[in-house]
Amino acid sequence: MAEQSNLTFGIIKPDAVRAGKFGNIIQRIVDNDFKIRAMKLIHMTREEAEGFYDVHRERPFFGELTTFMSSAPCVVMALEKKGAVKAWRDLMGATDPAKADAGTLRKEFGGSLGENAVHGSDSEENAEIEIGYFFSKLELV
Ligand code: CMP
Repeated sequence: MAEQSNLTFGIIKPDAVRAGKFGNIIQRIVDNDFKIRAMKLIHMTREEAEGFYDVHRERPFFGELTTFMSSAPCVVMALEKKGAVKAWRDLMGATDPAKADAGTLRKEFGGSLGENAVHGSDSEENAEIEIGYFFSKLELV
């Protein structure tokens, strides 16, 4: 689907929401010319977080990750921009905030590898799957 290739999925994670930083992050998203096609505040259950991060089920940090992601509300988003997957990953910065470049969201708002403020899809295929996990087609404006 041609349109889908310009979409990615993002999460403003519980640490950033708890810290009251989601407004700042949304502003950065808008300033970087992403079109917000869908957005909602949700509080995932442990099971919903486990389903979302299913690819990481065998990783040693799976328990820590899903406990954290279900610990408080987060903001889930479908973002549109040309080359959205890479553009959003560039804006987020490296997974580990300590290794993220200056000016990236994880550098500015992330606290640790586990609590790194934001999530983004790693491919167009996963963006479609991840958007579909949280949004119906009707919710994309
Ligand atoms: P995210 O982009 O949401 O995708 C999977 C997440 O797992 C990742 O961001 C990190 O926050 C988290 N993660 C990766 N490696 C570790 C680790 N070694 N310990 C804890 N969390 C991790």
